[in-house]
Amino acid sequence: MKYRSLLITGGAGFIGSNLAVYFKSKHPKLKVTVFDNLIRKGSELNLPRLKNHGIKFIRGDVRYPKDLKLKFDVDLVFECSAEPSVLAGYQNPHYIVDTNLMGTVNCLELCRQRKADMVFLSTSRVYPYEKINAIKFKEEKTRFAWPDFKGIGTDFALNGPKTLYGATKLASELILQEYVQAYGIKTIVNRCGVIAGPWQFGKVDQGVFTYWMLAHYFKKPLKYIGFGAKGKQLRDFLPV
Ligand SMILES: NC(=O)c1ccc[n+]([C@@H]2O[C@H](COP(=O)([O-])OP(=O)(O)OC[C@H]3O[C@@H](n4cnc5c(N)ncnc54)[C@H](O)[C@@H]3O)[C@@H](O)[C@H]2O)c1
Repeated sequence: MKYRSLLITGGAGFIGSNLAVYFKSKHPKLKVTVFDNLIRKGSELNLPRLKNHGIKFIRGDVRYPKDLKLKFDVDLVFECSAEPSVLAGYQNPHYIVDTNLMGTVNCLELCRQRKADMVFLSTSRVYPYEKINAIKFKEEKTRFAWPDFKGIGTDFALNGPKTLYGATKLASELILQEYVQAYGIKTIVNRCGVIAGPWQFGKVDQGVFTYWMLAHYFKKPLKYIGFGAKGKQLRDFLPV
């Protein structure tokens, strides 16, 4: 691996902590630092696990550039910090915009100053839901099906409402492209779909697979919502 010092913002969260442990286990010489403000309930439970793997933790907030003034070298940033829910931000959009958009800009500034590369975790929510819902589907006995539809590629339309979450992620992608062009930062954008796996702290609006298992385990009620509330929606889940 050509990198020597990896910073994972939002690294105490589900994906960030799994990436941190994966990279540290695979490349023991790599310095792995996790940066997180621990706003996501449950993220603090990942700290002992990260420490056991020799991963350094910094409590900080991507909204504040001063928190990102690090006293060590960084040559790769995984930007995993986010308010990752499609329901987030509607009472007060500030947190989601400040974190998901301005936080990414602050991380890009760090990359610019340190000549570091960035992997940015975006989302399939950048695609507008009205256009997705307009795709013809048919109702079968147990599920909805799309007989003539081959899936959504990166050439799918991007204009149209997509939630504050999706909009802040797409806005970050656009800014990121400008950083690539203007400053030569190397980046990968991953428009992740729904991801599931260990160390996810599921809640109603995010991390649903874990949430379902918890409800099943603790015998809590669950109900179907949306699309006639019949539970016929189909979704792929990728293991972290
Ligand atoms: N989990 C999924 O299915 C999924 C799907 C698509 C995209 N993503 C993206 O992947 C990334 C990671 O998602 P996740 O599932 O691990 O979510 P998560 O909530 O478990 O992790 C995000 C972490 O960011 C931290 N954070 C939030 N605001 C912060 C701030 N201002 N400063 C510093 N840290 C802050 C939280 O405390 C949390 O630990 C996000 O960008 C998310 O949008 C996730």
